[in-house]
Amino acid sequence: MSNLSARLNETLRFLQEQGIEKPDAAIILGSGLDQTLQYLAIEKLIPYAEIPHFPISTVSFHKGQLLWGQIGTRKVLVMQGRFHYYEGYSLQEIGFPVRVMQRLGARWLIISNAAGGIRSDLRKGDLVLIEDHINLLPDNPLRGPHDSSFGERFPDMSRPYHPTFQQLMRETAARLGIALKTGVYAAVMGPSLETRAEYRYLRTIGADMVGMSTVPEVIVANQVKLPCTAISVITDECDPDHLQPVSVEEILAVAHAADRHLSRLIASSLHQWVELTS
Ligand code: HPA
Repeated sequence: MSNLSARLNETLRFLQEQGIEKPDAAIILGSGLDQTLQYLAIEKLIPYAEIPHFPISTVSFHKGQLLWGQIGTRKVLVMQGRFHYYEGYSLQEIGFPVRVMQRLGARWLIISNAAGGIRSDLRKGDLVLIEDHINLLPDNPLRGPHDSSFGERFPDMSRPYHPTFQQLMRETAARLGIALKTGVYAAVMGPSLETRAEYRYLRTIGADMVGMSTVPEVIVANQVKLPCTAISVITDECDPDHLQPVSVEEILAVAHAADRHLSRLIASSLHQWVELTS
């Protein structure tokens, strides 16, 4: 058994002992985007520090706890606070919780993040369904010795975001009257934001938005065949020819304001999924 596999088993055992089993969906909440919790009937709340082998979020505005409960009739496991490469974690560590979610039996992974809008029509507060991504992080979470029990050595990435769940999100947004755009997300290392020249470069290579997360989790989800969808909240407009200085406080404030719609969309999508599958 690989090292990773042994750690995974210990984490699983701990969570199962807490009564966490077979979540319908798992959710990873992005920076300043925790209003989805208002829809969650919480049964268990576990700080990451108590979970064996779980990394601990070091960013002050990230809470760092796992929540277990129900949204409507769906059992949901929520990560409030995620791990970033810029904090010093390896991508393998960042992907670890996704392996845990899949092994617990999750059938859908929903990810949110805050991102800079590069495409000219993207405005602060917009919600964008990620249809594809570009990994500009200097690593891959699957690098290293391969354990075939996790899935393939060379996972296919032709459809990293699950078409059926994307459709479900689009239909739910339309039903709620929430505008949901679509775009390509580029993951960068951070923590410094981009220069004008870097935004120009990102636009040239086909990125519509840019952020510092999500892609490692999505790569792991694809390896373990956990269907995933991800939504970006546009927190700053990154037009290289008119770039305004931006602070993390502003980014969080915009994220907070848009989260009212995002959290409604996530909760309603879970509800719609119930109707589809029951
Ligand atoms: N760049 C990178 N990450 C971000 C940005 C950005 O402009 N906005 C929010 N997260």
